[in-house]
Amino acid sequence: MARRDQPDRYAKQARREGYAARSVYKLEELQHRFTLIRPGMRVLDVGAAPGSWSQLTTKIVGNRGRLVAVDLADLPELDGVPNVETICGDISDSGVVERIVGLGPYDAVISDAAPRTSGNRGLDTARSAAIVEQVLWLCEQALARRGNLVAKLFQGGEEQRLLQEVRRRFSVGRLIKPKASRDESFEVFLVATDYEG
Ligand SMILES: C[S@@+](CC[C@H](N)C(=O)[O-])C[C@H]1O[C@@H](n2cnc3c(N)ncnc32)[C@H](O)[C@@H]1O
Repeated sequence: MARRDQPDRYAKQARREGYAARSVYKLEELQHRFTLIRPGMRVLDVGAAPGSWSQLTTKIVGNRGRLVAVDLADLPELDGVPNVETICGDISDSGVVERIVGLGPYDAVISDAAPRTSGNRGLDTARSAAIVEQVLWLCEQALARRGNLVAKLFQGGEEQRLLQEVRRRFSVGRLIKPKASRDESFEVFLVATDYEG
C-alpha cells in the first residue's frame, strides 16, 4: 500500500495537470458517472481550499457559468479567475450563510468539506455529519429546483440517516466511494440529483 506521505499516482497526475490537489479526481469520477455539473451552471463549492474542485468546475461551467467557493482558509489559487467569487469563513457562521445565499441560487452544490481529524473516530464522524447537515440546509436556502449535490461524509454511523435525508429532498441519492479516495480513508460521498425542495 502507498504511504500517505508519498505522492501516489493521483497526486503525481494532479501535479502534472496543474491541479491544486489530488482530490480533483474524486470529483472527476463523480462528474463522469453522474454529470452533476454542466456548462453555464452556477455552482457552490463548500470546503474549496486549496482549490482543485473549483479548478475543474470552472473548466466545466465555462464563461457562461459562475462559481462561489467557500472555505475557512484563503483561496489564492482562485484569485482573479473570471466568474469566481471566494468567501473566507465558516459555513456555520450566519454572516457567511447570508453571503452564500445572497450570491445564489445555485444549480449544483459540491462539498468536499471535512473537519480537521482528531484521531477520535466518533468525534470526527459526528463533526463530518454536522457539516453535511449544514450543507443540506444551504441547499434548502439556495439550491435551485432540479439542482444536484455532492457532499463528503465520514462513515461511522450517520450515513444511512443522511442518505434518507437526501432521498427525501432529491429524486435520486446514493453513497459512493470514488477510486481516487484512499483505501484507508473512511470518507464516502453523498451524490444526489434533481432537487425537489
Ligand atoms: C479536503 S479539503 C477540500 C479540498 C478541495 N475540495 C480541493 O479539491 O482542493 C477540506 C476543506 O474543508 C474546509 N472546511 C472544513 N470545515 C469547514 C467549514 N465549517 N466551513 C468552511 N470550510 C470548511 C477545510 O478548511 C478544508 O480546506
